[in-house]
Amino acid sequence: MLGKTTPNRMRGSRNNDAVHKRRVFVTVCATVLMLSLLSIYYSSFFNSRMHHVHGDGSSEEEREWEGASKVVRRPKPLADDLSMDDTGADKGEADLDVDTINLKEERPDETKRKADKYEADDDKDDSDERTDNDDQDASAEDPKDEEGIDEVTLKTFPVCDSRYSELIPCLDQSLQKQLKMRLNHSLMEHFERHCPPPQQRLNCLIPPPPNYQVPVKWPESRDEVWQANIPHTFLATNKSDQHWMELQGDKAIFPGGGTHFHDGADKYIANLGKMLGEADGDLSKAGKIRTVFDVGCGVASFGAFLLPLDIIAMSLAPNDVHQNQIQFALERGIPSMLGVLGTMRLPYPSKSFDLAHCSRCRIDWHKRDGILLLEVDRLLRPGGYFAWSSPAAYRETESDRQEWNEMTTLVRNMCWTEAAKEGQTVIWQKPLTSECYEERLPGTHPPLCSSVEDPDAAWGLPMKTCITPLTKYNEDSLEPWPQRLTAPSPRLQELGIAERTFETDTFVWQQRVQYYWKQLKINGQIAHNGVRNIMDMNANFGGFAAALKEQDVWIMNVVSPYGPNTLKMVYDRGLIGTLHDWCEAFSTYPRTYDVLHAWDVFSKVDERGCSIEDLLLEMDRVVRPWGIIIIRDNASMVNRVGKYLKGLRWDHWSKDDFEIVEDALSHGDEKILMARKRLWQPVESF
Ligand SMILES: *[C@@H]1O[C@H](CO)[C@@H](O)[C@H](O)[C@H]1NC(C)=O
Ligand SMILES: *[C@@H]1O[C@H](CO)[C@@H](O)[C@H](O)[C@H]1NC(C)=O
Ligand SMILES: *[C@@H]1O[C@H](CO)[C@@H](O)[C@H](O)[C@H]1NC(C)=O
Repeated sequence: MLGKTTPNRMRGSRNNDAVHKRRVFVTVCATVLMLSLLSIYYSSFFNSRMHHVHGDGSSEEEREWEGASKVVRRPKPLADDLSMDDTGADKGEADLDVDTINLKEERPDETKRKADKYEADDDKDDSDERTDNDDQDASAEDPKDEEGIDEVTLKTFPVCDSRYSELIPCLDQSLQKQLKMRLNHSLMEHFERHCPPPQQRLNCLIPPPPNYQVPVKWPESRDEVWQANIPHTFLATNKSDQHWMELQGDKAIFPGGGTHFHDGADKYIANLGKMLGEADGDLSKAGKIRTVFDVGCGVASFGAFLLPLDIIAMSLAPNDVHQNQIQFALERGIPSMLGVLGTMRLPYPSKSFDLAHCSRCRIDWHKRDGILLLEVDRLLRPGGYFAWSSPAAYRETESDRQEWNEMTTLVRNMCWTEAAKEGQTVIWQKPLTSECYEERLPGTHPPLCSSVEDPDAAWGLPMKTCITPLTKYNEDSLEPWPQRLTAPSPRLQELGIAERTFETDTFVWQQRVQYYWKQLKINGQIAHNGVRNIMDMNANFGGFAAALKEQDVWIMNVVSPYGPNTLKMVYDRGLIGTLHDWCEAFSTYPRTYDVLHAWDVFSKVDERGCSIEDLLLEMDRVVRPWGIIIIRDNASMVNRVGKYLKGLRWDHWSKDDFEIVEDALSHGDEKILMARKRLWQPVESF
């Protein structure tokens, strides 16, 4: 601009040379002045950051963290050197210092305003921080919002009554009573899913229990959790002799016991390994056993102590008399979900598990023509094991004898063979091929299932009393763990998926997840809260989970029952997951996941005519306070979802530092939203 106007002005001047020299001088001076001002500004900015780092005592970290939710920093393009190695954790912490303190500088002075109906309650002795509310955040950030996400609250959601603080909408026995459902208790139908009809949905936010705290971080959480988070003491008193759980001060402690392994699950697991011929007790058999199904799992101590062997267990139990066992398991950070062997197929494809386990799980396998054992048979891969610990295996009473006889007849007819037996425990093995089935006498029960039935369809289908036949893909072709994670699944062909497609998917998710992880680190999530329980709400081939292999996390891979059943590939890769329809509530307790990843979930739910509001409320129920929600979807859908953040009390966490990096799975107008659920408490009414 200067260059254009200067010649005009100079034209009328008498002494062009002198004027020119003066102008040059002024320009240089101005530039120098500006530069020095800038440098002073930046150095003081930096100093004041340092001051905060060192000046403020121990509560500082807590407050920085509080602030971290509003960190909306400069764009961070995807760098080449993103590393997810362990040393990165320290880097993350360092990043936290810089970014969050930076934020404190920018935050408006706290005023004593409180939100109408609630207040943040994360840090009781820090009253300044808790007065922070939406309006301030919005006014502080809105000018920077160039992405077009309009955070105007279209709808506020009321807070549910605190008696719903543990609500699981599709597994709610009080609703069953209210609706007078006729459910057969001897078939466990009352522990199966029965979702509320639309008019019975509670369209409100589930509050945490009083004094809820940020959960203990993994790995400490394996052994202890906050009592206030799950205020149920039944297991501690009722199972005290079996060491499931003990109370100590404000913690619940898990000594690692179970009904059949009072002395700890680790010794029991080593013994199972020895029974299978591993002198060192390595139950994984050098990577051949990776996916385990533990039914009637209690607080999932069995699953917890399999983890050091690189074995991952899907632990399953209903919300029965053993109050909140799955809630404890998830609070501990152990993979598990609610479910029961009743009348419906479990939501997993056939040939998913390398080993199934039931120790004193109180399931009458030999009854009802073996229907429940036949369901386990469906879930076991060819050559898979079933480990059963029961008094019937050794006790000499008449009823135990009879149960044992019926059980052995049943498994013989199912072509299982005894791999080992010792004391209370027997391990059977499912056949590798269909040879034995073909040699059975005509009319032998149970019969083979019709081959037109899809053995992998498992959503809302009843179990049947028949043996799932083995198909031509049944040869034991899986690589051992960890090779099977990246090896193309032998069932790719069944799904008509090219190996190339699979490899691209693996690569793309590696890149995407590195980016997410970097964001979680930068924003302090990993350093501060820990990230342990993750759900990939649309797992597809399991690429998201595979990319997190080196992290100390586990992923519940969710696949829709209405698309290609890629969940079998997920299991073939040595990962775990479940079928689920996101028009309904998930089979888990409130506040059980640290991260929810929703890739194209909203647009699919919307296409199917279900409500995205319901989905948001369900996600809010499932995610822990301070947990992260990552939504990756069409831009228009992400913008729509963005309008609900405030009503949900989620902080928009990633506003303008997220750059979509186009890749082979991008579909043009894609956008990412990262939000974080706040920790709040309902305000008591006086
Ligand atoms: C529940 O199911 C069992 C087994 O099928 C059956 O014998 C019983 O009559 C059923 N009970 C009711 C109340 O329907
Ligand atoms: C544990 O609970 C069951 C079921 O409520 C009850 O029958 C049993 O007596 C209890 N045992 C102990 C030791 O409290
Ligand atoms: C989202 O984008 C995909 C790919 O372009 C498209 O198939 C789908 O219909 C879109 N969904 C919505 C809700 O716009």
